[in-house]
Amino acid sequence: MSAKILEGKLLAQVMRAEIAARAESFFKKTGSRPGLAAVLVGDNPASQIYVRNKRIACKQSGLESSLHHLSNQTTQTQLLELVDKLNHEPAVHGILVQLPLPPQIQETAIVRAVSPLKDVDGFGPENLGLLAAGHPRYLPCTPAGIQQLLLRNGINPEGTHVVIVGRSNIVGKPVALILMQKAQGANATVTVCHSQSRDLASVTRQADILIVAIGKAQFLKADMVRAEAVVIDVGTNRLADGRLVGDVDFEAVKEVASAITPVPGGVGPMTITMLLSNTVQAAENQSPF
Ligand SMILES: NC(=O)c1ccc[n+]([C@@H]2O[C@H](COP(=O)([O-])OP(=O)(O)OC[C@H]3O[C@@H](n4cnc5c(N)ncnc54)[C@H](OP(=O)(O)O)[C@@H]3O)[C@@H](O)[C@H]2O)c1
Repeated sequence: MSAKILEGKLLAQVMRAEIAARAESFFKKTGSRPGLAAVLVGDNPASQIYVRNKRIACKQSGLESSLHHLSNQTTQTQLLELVDKLNHEPAVHGILVQLPLPPQIQETAIVRAVSPLKDVDGFGPENLGLLAAGHPRYLPCTPAGIQQLLLRNGINPEGTHVVIVGRSNIVGKPVALILMQKAQGANATVTVCHSQSRDLASVTRQADILIVAIGKAQFLKADMVRAEAVVIDVGTNRLADGRLVGDVDFEAVKEVASAITPVPGGVGPMTITMLLSNTVQAAENQSPF
């Protein structure tokens, strides 16, 4: 039987309506709207599209957004000065520095410079540390979106074996931290695999919930998936013919799995939704009311 398709696009619409209601109630209480400052350095076309989509989403949900577009020649000092200014700007509740940055700028230096209260990407050391210690403030957006996709489709990870393929700082590692938390909607047994894992298929076949985030088109095949497993495909890969595909061989795996996310329209729309959610939360956290 073919798997249930976990439609992130539809869920994102539902959640964005909830976020818009929270933003409106913040406006009624404070007279200002939750505000996101987007920082874009250089002319990377993909980054320009990501930032544009994030700003459109802000507008649709009643959040303010500003764009700080700097040239490709920007120095690290100049970018640090901008981040410092935004850290002290009361109308800015969240700061998003779009990665990647040009090679003359150290990404870690910039990520660390963002005020932890405005770090709505949840990538900074304080917010990652709080998550690791079991007291999260802002959850990194893609991993938080994955948890919502599961829970709001009635798939509770508690007690299940979650296998994650990929250990990046923005997806693999934080999604492991989120799902292993001693908390409702988490409490999973988590295994994390990477490029050095031996006999990967024997591990992925043990998963009740399999999360794949490696950036290799259609890498995960049907014989690597246990029957009735839930499969979350984080990958976004552009094929030579222009098609966007995930890290999972969708057509074959959907015949084995009980539920699966499509690409596009699965995890992707949830990432921006959680950024909006974190920005509203940041505004509420910073409000004196
Ligand atoms: N939809 C969204 O909103 C969203 C958000 C973020 C990322 N993405 C997509 O998700 C994918 C992963 O992104 P990322 O930033 O996490 O990637 P990344 O930083 O490149 O990390 C890739 C991870 O996959 C592991 N890996 C690579 N080849 C492997 C293999 N053959 N077997 C097992 N593990 C392997 C790597 O292992 P090592 O650590 O050993 O190198 C690494 O841990 C990309 O396609 C990206 O575009 C989508």
